[in-house]
Amino acid sequence: MEIETVTTKSEDETLAVAEKFAENLRRGDVVFFFGDLGSGKTEFIKGVCRFFGVEEIVTSPTFTIINQYAGKLGDDSLTIFHIDLYRIKTKEELAEIGFEECIYSPDSIKLVEWAENSHDLVKFVNYRVQIRSDFENLNERLIEISKGN
Ligand SMILES: Nc1ncnc2c1ncn2[C@@H]1O[C@H](COP(=O)(O)OP(=O)(O)O)[C@@H](O)[C@H]1O
Ligand SMILES: [Mg+2]
Repeated sequence: MEIETVTTKSEDETLAVAEKFAENLRRGDVVFFFGDLGSGKTEFIKGVCRFFGVEEIVTSPTFTIINQYAGKLGDDSLTIFHIDLYRIKTKEELAEIGFEECIYSPDSIKLVEWAENSHDLVKFVNYRVQIRSDFENLNERLIEISKGN
């Protein structure tokens, strides 16, 4: 598995790393995000959304669970789903929110926070992004990106 690691020292650096990463994304791709509360998953997703020209405000959909943004890929429109499974406990809850239908939609990009709560329903994941805080340097983050399952 290819793994890329990078350390960022500010929110802006994380946004820049995310924008660069977004160049690799294709329609249908699924990205899983791992990391504690406040590690920077949503910041990273903001950078991905910025790359695709999303104009809506990007925030963790902790209560709505799934946010949908209108982006652009070249001249065409691109839907981005931002999913936050922080509050999800059971497979039944995933069914209620239409998680699988969303994940398998072939034309959109799916970005999943708290992906450890997806109960192994997703059979193929294109990228995994793990973000770790540094407890000595408050604004430092270690970002590890791996490709494939
Ligand atoms: N290097 C960094 N990268 C990303 N966020 C950072 C960084 N340094 C500080 N922060 C702050 O950490 C917080 C990350 O929050 P957020 O992205 O919502 O986390 P999560 O979605 O993982 O819970 C933000 O308040 C952001 O300003
Ligand atoms: Mg978040």
